[in-house]
Amino acid sequence: MPFVADKLILFGATGDLSQRMLLPSLCALNADGLVADDLKIIGTARSDHDDDSFRAFAADALEKYLPDDRKSAIPALLARLSYQTLDASKPEGFSALAGKAGKVDDGLAIFLSTAPSLFEPTIAGLAAAGLAGERVRIGLEKPLGTDLESSRQINDAVSAAFTEDRIFRIDHYLGKETVQNLLALRFANILFEPLWNATHIEHVQITVAETVGLEGRVGFYDEAGALRDMVQNHMLQLLALVAMEPPSSFDSTAVRDEKVKVLRSLRYLGEGDSVTGQYRAGAIDGTAVPGYDEELGKPSGTETFVALKAHIDNWRWKGVPFYLRTGKRLPRRATEIVIQFRRVPHSIFAGKGATTQPNRLIIGIQPEENIRLSVMAKVPGLDRGGLRLREVPLDISMPNAFAGVKKRIAYERLLLDLIEGDQTLFVRRDEVEAQWDWIDTIRAGWSEHGMVPKPYTAGSWGPSAAIALAEREGVTWHE
Ligand code: BG6
Repeated sequence: MPFVADKLILFGATGDLSQRMLLPSLCALNADGLVADDLKIIGTARSDHDDDSFRAFAADALEKYLPDDRKSAIPALLARLSYQTLDASKPEGFSALAGKAGKVDDGLAIFLSTAPSLFEPTIAGLAAAGLAGERVRIGLEKPLGTDLESSRQINDAVSAAFTEDRIFRIDHYLGKETVQNLLALRFANILFEPLWNATHIEHVQITVAETVGLEGRVGFYDEAGALRDMVQNHMLQLLALVAMEPPSSFDSTAVRDEKVKVLRSLRYLGEGDSVTGQYRAGAIDGTAVPGYDEELGKPSGTETFVALKAHIDNWRWKGVPFYLRTGKRLPRRATEIVIQFRRVPHSIFAGKGATTQPNRLIIGIQPEENIRLSVMAKVPGLDRGGLRLREVPLDISMPNAFAGVKKRIAYERLLLDLIEGDQTLFVRRDEVEAQWDWIDTIRAGWSEHGMVPKPYTAGSWGPSAAIALAEREGVTWHE
């Protein structure tokens, strides 16, 4: 049985992720009695704080980011917090952190969200201070490297101190309820699985569209770009969940074994299978927004949009394109998966002048959480002018179906699993490496062919070449 940690160290405790997500998530878990009564949370970062000033800092963040009906829970969380200032690039600070943590024999969970350059010194510091033993597990927040080689280097450094069963690589999309629901949809229903293959599915679309721009992440984003920021992790995880074979059980080894097989079966892209873009000034929801280069303050060759046509080389998906698309400053925020089924093999209605449309399953992940299956139906009437058929949606709105059930944000789930030691929703090393391997070849192709991002107007669906990428095969992006 995995141990349940009774101590949690948050690296980057004064950072943006901690303020917006981690502290609010811990507050909710604490308020609902989901963490042990004696759980101690130690924040650490470079900023100078003592326990009291960190609690005041945390209180401000919680006031800002928690919904009003949750604010009464703040004092109870604050009572669990303490703080140790630490410059992770210097080994000497780690013994003070170990002193603050005290005995860790009952289990310690560490949440590390830090600049990639600090991973190695941090791991070394933890190991030297006795904070990496058998009763310690570590959660790693992205970015875990910038390519296969640097990710291997980070993984080697971490695995020198922690065994794989104590390493929890975070992809926060896996913590999203609607992403987990994909597994329920596929494997808790008999309906879809017999059709879930190349015989019945014509293509798949995965879109992660954002309306936000650079959001002040100047240094990070311009180094990363959309491919590494969104496709390498979140989108490939979504693709793996859509495409994987049924695992034998919902446990960490079975699920991750199946995902990694998909990731390793991704065909390397050919020239013409990808399109990149960068937004220019435009308008989102009627509000004028500047172009990427203006936000950045200089010209840049970084892509803020990418569209890809991928293939999975195995029996199930032979010849089925997976169209992936993500970008900043698109017209609306939407993460969705479209499963486009094939046409019926023969239409009995053709002689009556009626056309049939192939079925389509749309899985809305966010902000709309719904599952919509389009089916053909007969338009009511006496058909004197000919039989008419029309698509109608079978629509399930998840918030309506589960009204009254508390909605959990991704980090609540992930922090709890980290504390309790369930790795199912975390990414294994072989998955990350398969993801990087594929992404690296795409980037190598871009530089080999001198590809530069095509401009697109903020508030549009990306460069027109992205539309052409799909239309060449008679496919229209779902909008
Ligand atoms: C992060 C990316 O991993 O995911 C961001 O670094 C992106 O650029 C974010 O905005 C999107 O997450 P979500 O949960 O808002 O879809």
